Amino acid sequence: MKDRHVGVLMGGNSPERDVSLRSGEAVAAALERRGWYVTRVYVDGDVDRVLREAEIDVAFLALHGTMGEDGCIQGLLEVLGIPYTGSGVLASALAMDKLKAKELFRLHNVPTPPYYVVDADRLDELESVHGWFGFPVFVKPRRSGSSVGAGIAHDLEQLRARCEHAARFDRCVLVERFVRGAEVAVGILDGRALGTVEIVPRGDFYDYRSKYQPGQSDYYCPARLTPTRRRCVETLAERAHAALGCRGATRVDVLVTEGDNEYVLEVNTLPGMTPTSLLPRIAASAGMSFEDLCEAILERALLDRAASTSAGPEARPVTPHDALAAVAR
Ligand SMILES: Nc1ncnc2c1ncn2[C@@H]1O[C@H](COP(=O)(O)OP(=O)(O)O)[C@@H](O)[C@H]1O
Ligand SMILES: [Mg+2]
Repeated sequence: MKDRHVGVLMGGNSPERDVSLRSGEAVAAALERRGWYVTRVYVDGDVDRVLREAEIDVAFLALHGTMGEDGCIQGLLEVLGIPYTGSGVLASALAMDKLKAKELFRLHNVPTPPYYVVDADRLDELESVHGWFGFPVFVKPRRSGSSVGAGIAHDLEQLRARCEHAARFDRCVLVERFVRGAEVAVGILDGRALGTVEIVPRGDFYDYRSKYQPGQSDYYCPARLTPTRRRCVETLAERAHAALGCRGATRVDVLVTEGDNEYVLEVNTLPGMTPTSLLPRIAASAGMSFEDLCEAILERALLDRAASTSAGPEARPVTPHDALAAVAR
């Protein structure tokens, strides 16, 4: 397969652009070390032209946030006929939309913190919308990542300020019950848990600073849970991944309370891929090097494409003409 031309897509215009550039560079370098022919594709403007001119055989997505992680670029790649890593259009869009993801979690009995949503233009009714929901709460934009625009509120005044801040990133704001517990991320590869990492941020929660500034969080890999508890958390994460119909590698963020309740916060369909990011840490503790992980993700994309194009002539799309011919028979 190594004769395939791999495009590593990175950049974009979401607030997570810098993280994406770091992920992309790390992935491109790792694949080159393994002998792949790699082009770094910067997704800055004119994406369709850039992709056609790059003449790649497969796209390794190292994008994060809107336009990269939410199904848009996946849709474009489908149209262009270029196989790509990670989840498809629908699963990407569902996972990026925290409200829709939570609705599906509830449908699939995947526990997630209680919540409500409020639109930016209804913030003057916040007090009545909030009603008896109680405090503290966690406020975040409906579609965002890297904790951008997120924060805790202990009273109505803070809630209003937090909602106004979150609304700068998304007109729809998600207000969740604050869950006090251990922060555990589960790495999933091809539907199976690879392992866990526990994060202990220095601050009140795992915010942008504690995510990306060295020394702002402590990490324990695997998470400091009993083996039985850890297996439960892993199974829950596998169910969350499946509930959204995800593919390839994902990272599921879970909160585990002292009473041993577990809550899924979200599924990240394009997790950070710098060597110190959470998924590569989890993979390393499972005996998989960063290069192994990048190749496993890439090969899955190539295999998926091979499977969908080798289904035989009967797998070709049905045209209106075929349908009429079938009725006539
Ligand atoms: N309901 C909650 N209770 C407590 N902490 C939360 C809650 N929701 C999010 N957090 C904190 O905020 C971080 C980011 O939230 P998350 O839903 O994972 O969104 P993002 O896409 O920004 O990572 C979490 O890792 C956690 O530290
Ligand atoms: Mg998260």
